[in-house]
Amino acid sequence: MAKTPDPSSLPEVVKPSCEAIKILKGQKALVTGASSGIGEAIALALGKAGADVAVNYIADESTAQGVVEAIRKEGSRAIAVHGDVSKEADVLNVYQQMYKEFGTIDILVNNAGIQRDAPLEKMTLEHWNQVIGVNLTGQFLCAREAVKEFKRRGVRKEVSCAAGKIICMSSVHQMIPWAGHVNYASSKGGIHMLMESIAQEVAPFRIRVNSIAPGAIRTAINKSAWSTPEAYNELMKLVPYKRIGEPEDIAHCAVWLASDYADYITGTTIFIDGGMTLFPGFETGG
Ligand code: BGC
Repeated sequence: MAKTPDPSSLPEVVKPSCEAIKILKGQKALVTGASSGIGEAIALALGKAGADVAVNYIADESTAQGVVEAIRKEGSRAIAVHGDVSKEADVLNVYQQMYKEFGTIDILVNNAGIQRDAPLEKMTLEHWNQVIGVNLTGQFLCAREAVKEFKRRGVRKEVSCAAGKIICMSSVHQMIPWAGHVNYASSKGGIHMLMESIAQEVAPFRIRVNSIAPGAIRTAINKSAWSTPEAYNELMKLVPYKRIGEPEDIAHCAVWLASDYADYITGTTIFIDGGMTLFPGFETGG
């Protein structure tokens, strides 16, 4: 068991550092919502693994450019592409820009996601629609465009034995109900069936579709849950592994899942949550 942490201060950050291997050399990837958090870490890790990356963003062009520069430093190509994934015209435009620069797509990471939290009786229709629009409709629109290209083009033997890979960012809340967050939990429950149904439909075309379901990961979306010692200790009651996840924990898995190391894996959700889903409702800290 890890040393008992001092509950009055935040514990030291544990960030797994794994050597980058060029297992995605020559592949073209699109990561949505890639200017911060999990999306940023995935875009960078794909770049380090040899993929050329389109970094999609909606609000902050300068941070997206920062991610692009970091990927270029790793020796891969990268571009920043603006677009709101909940809007069909934006998604078509994102793909057009990507094809202009890279010619095709091999890997889609359907990552963009938002939270708009409120108790049910205070949740506005606008907040419901925004969350379903970005988290669920956005994944549908982006997956549809990627599948069109994967089917049109088929396998590029020189880079991968699959015709294409889609990774959907889900959440532990595709299976753990989440009071006060019904829009978010509904969107993630929807992603579960979206991913499995697409996976079943396109598997005969050698297209692989999987989800990653993160638990509590240190990003801006849940800052209030980890930025003070009190909040962090409360959060740890839900995490048997007793540390918060880092964006890199998700990124390492995404690289592997997109690579031919995972070629026989499709229609699966990988939970990356320090054990949170082992015991939904885990409250005593064991
Ligand atoms: C949410 C986070 C939350 C985590 C565990 C994620 O999907 O975005 O805000 O901390 O689930 O509850």
